[in-house]
Amino acid sequence: MAKAVLGVIGGSGVYDLPGLENVREERIASPWGEPSDALRIGRIGATPVVFLARHGRGHRLSPSGINYRANIDVMKRAGVTDLVSLSACGSFRQELYPGLFVLVDQFVDRTFGRASSFFGDGCVAHVSMAHPVGPALQARLLAAAEAEEIAVRQNGTYVCMEGPQFSSYAESLTYKSLGYDVIGMTNMPEAKLAREAEITYATIAMVTDFDCWHPDHDAVEVSAVIAVARANAAKAARLVSRLARDFPEEHEPCPVRSDRALDGAIITPPEH
Ligand code: ADE
Repeated sequence: MAKAVLGVIGGSGVYDLPGLENVREERIASPWGEPSDALRIGRIGATPVVFLARHGRGHRLSPSGINYRANIDVMKRAGVTDLVSLSACGSFRQELYPGLFVLVDQFVDRTFGRASSFFGDGCVAHVSMAHPVGPALQARLLAAAEAEEIAVRQNGTYVCMEGPQFSSYAESLTYKSLGYDVIGMTNMPEAKLAREAEITYATIAMVTDFDCWHPDHDAVEVSAVIAVARANAAKAARLVSRLARDFPEEHEPCPVRSDRALDGAIITPPEH
């Protein structure tokens, strides 16, 4: 198995990774275009860690403007085997309150107009997305959260909307009635592309608000989202530091084969 390299993509409010040591910045060229920012490559404990600010430092890129393919491609080129996505989200459940971290294990993709595959141009592949999150990586995130005494819930479904506008009341009620747990604007197609790149993926969905279904919160306010996201960022950095310090040297084979996703997935004959 390959040497483990931990990737971290920081979303709203997470533009840096405190705890990252011996940092060098690297701009890796990608045939898929411009990634969101330079990679910050360093170590936490003995583990190599690669950080990327999803919206760029200064939050320049909207969810629809992010080049997800370039982001995943440069992570792959930097050797990342395991990728943790730190993502602000709204909640559809009273018990998933702002400040809580949710280790989601399912995604529903409601985005449109985003390039969502590396394949299709002369080479067609159909990877499985039945289990989009690596369970071993998620278990390590849970252990790290518990060790740091960070409130966390395991499992849940993240619906990814296009944005940048938040949901209407009718949409919010619909998603809630469908049993979705949290909502965000960025984990799709990121999770799909990670799978195609055979990178094991897991998300820490950091609740910032109750979307607009909640009787006491009839609209999402950006100022509140930012305030909670900033507070979440420090906790997320602690969690990632613990994860990295306890990370194995070798990448652990993924039980849902995320690291072998292309075995048998490419449909175009080699001589084609
Ligand atoms: N990110 C943070 N809160 C959100 C919400 N309510 N809807 C979509 N994305 C979000």
